[in-house]
Amino acid sequence: MGRRVVVSGGGTGIGLAITRRFAAAGDAVVIVGRRLEVLERAAAAVNEEVGGEPVSVEPADLADPEATSSVAEAISAGGSVDVLVNNAGGISSADARSLTELAEHWLTDFRGNVLTAVLLTHALTPHLSRPGGRIIAMSSVAGVRGPGSYGAAKSALHAWVFGLAASLGAEGITVNAVAPGFIPDTEFWDGRLSPQIIEPRVEGTLVKRPGTPEEVAEAVAYLASEKAGFTTGQILQVNGGAVLGRG
Ligand SMILES: NC(=O)c1ccc[n+]([C@@H]2O[C@H](COP(=O)([O-])OP(=O)(O)OC[C@H]3O[C@@H](n4cnc5c(N)ncnc54)[C@H](OP(=O)(O)O)[C@@H]3O)[C@@H](O)[C@H]2O)c1
Repeated sequence: MGRRVVVSGGGTGIGLAITRRFAAAGDAVVIVGRRLEVLERAAAAVNEEVGGEPVSVEPADLADPEATSSVAEAISAGGSVDVLVNNAGGISSADARSLTELAEHWLTDFRGNVLTAVLLTHALTPHLSRPGGRIIAMSSVAGVRGPGSYGAAKSALHAWVFGLAASLGAEGITVNAVAPGFIPDTEFWDGRLSPQIIEPRVEGTLVKRPGTPEEVAEAVAYLASEKAGFTTGQILQVNGGAVLGRG
């Protein structure tokens, strides 16, 4: 029988590939994001591809405690959760002209990348399958290399993953992160792709190419699998070796 999976940010980019990967394997997938129409479009497309209605939608801003509490209540009313993929995230613009703007960027990146994972996980933890539950966070190569508020926010996820893995391990729940590198086929890079952006990122990998959302989804699927139960508290680098910092 299929499992019950929750994917935050499951309507676009890497999250959509993760949704597709689980739905194709026969799992039921609840996708969460702020834009209802984006979620509905993604669910309709994947449901059409795999047949039936394995994908359902729950719109919410996961940086908002009240909205997250409501959405977790709605999700848990449908039964326990086997796999929670905290994939939602993003980057604020780079240049701040004032301390006020700088503070806003840092808060935006911490809300978008850290709070979205922490709040949803906290609200759903009582409803995770025991034993066998899986929590996966979406970090980034930026979590070990920077830059700025985005890298620091992803790095914060690592410490959170280690602590949570320690506290939930004895209940048979694993907690890991995946750290992708340059994945251009995502809204993350919408309007920001130019040769000046692409070339150094490709050059910085050992495999000399960008990654795909499907390659990240495959790593998530492994960590979520029943056979990955002895792997916890890990940050799996899916970035073509870019984390090694040499080309
Ligand atoms: N693309 C890359 O090169 C790359 C590399 C390393 C890591 N990552 C990470 O991979 C993850 C997925 O990003 P992506 O590249 O696939 O870009 P994306 O297409 O922009 O996906 C981000 C998703 O997160 C959702 N989201 C953002 N903030 C949210 C919030 N407050 N509440 C609920 N949902 C929220 C967005 O939907 P709504 O806007 O509708 O809420 C969107 O579906 C992110 O954590 C990103 O940091 C990406």
